[in-house]
Amino acid sequence: MIDKTPLSIPRHIGIIMDGNGRWAASHNLPRVAGHKEGAVAVDRIVTACRERGIRVLTLYAFSLQNWVRPAPEIKALMSLLGIYLKSERRTILDNDIRLTAIGDLDSLPNSPRKALLDLMDESASNTGMTLCLALSYGGREEIVAAARALAVRVAADNLDPAAIDIDLFSESLQSRNLGPLDLLIRTSGELRISNFLLWSSAYCELYFSDKMWPDFHSSDLDEALASFSSRNRRFGGIGK
Ligand code: FPP
Repeated sequence: MIDKTPLSIPRHIGIIMDGNGRWAASHNLPRVAGHKEGAVAVDRIVTACRERGIRVLTLYAFSLQNWVRPAPEIKALMSLLGIYLKSERRTILDNDIRLTAIGDLDSLPNSPRKALLDLMDESASNTGMTLCLALSYGGREEIVAAARALAVRVAADNLDPAAIDIDLFSESLQSRNLGPLDLLIRTSGELRISNFLLWSSAYCELYFSDKMWPDFHSSDLDEALASFSSRNRRFGGIGK
């Protein structure tokens, strides 16, 4: 018998796209080739999420901690970002996708930063799906920045500390417009959160895939969605 139970679709998915380097090593290729193939996977998973009605997709493309990588790898990743933004411009605009970004965008090299800001501007009124790139991003740093901004308001006598609650704190985060994370996917078999969306992942469902990111296909996304749909989310309550 066909199961006709409607799938519950997560509103916001975050993906830690891990395993590009190991994918490259397993194909006897340089690490950068893994990142190139990773960008191809980004393209297909963005389209697949759009087709499946996901409202927000946040991709962990470069962490604040990734700056310690060898300079040539960083250069290649930044150049890939620029190439991706150029080649995906039409896909993003034609599919009604709004591009946004979180992280220390000022630290990005000029050329990809400009391409990013331009496409964010151009796509700002799109409503089909929000694609957020986490670039030079760290979850703890995001929380510290929000705490600092609130402390400044308190020090200036503009805010009563008693008024600081979960809602006000959420509104002070750079990722405030993305909403809570519902499903966090990490590829490559690693079981870590690695400083990604720490605040908004408070009640997210976790899904770990053994596939390296370049091997992650829409069928793998569907497995993650099926798993999400089978979860009983209780948010501290006793559930259905
Ligand atoms: C983690 O794999 C991946 C990254 C740090 C970069 C992710 C970048 C891409 C998927 C491509 C470019 C992105 C866009 C948005 C165009 P890793 O290098 O840590 O792999 P390893 O753990 O196997 O070494």
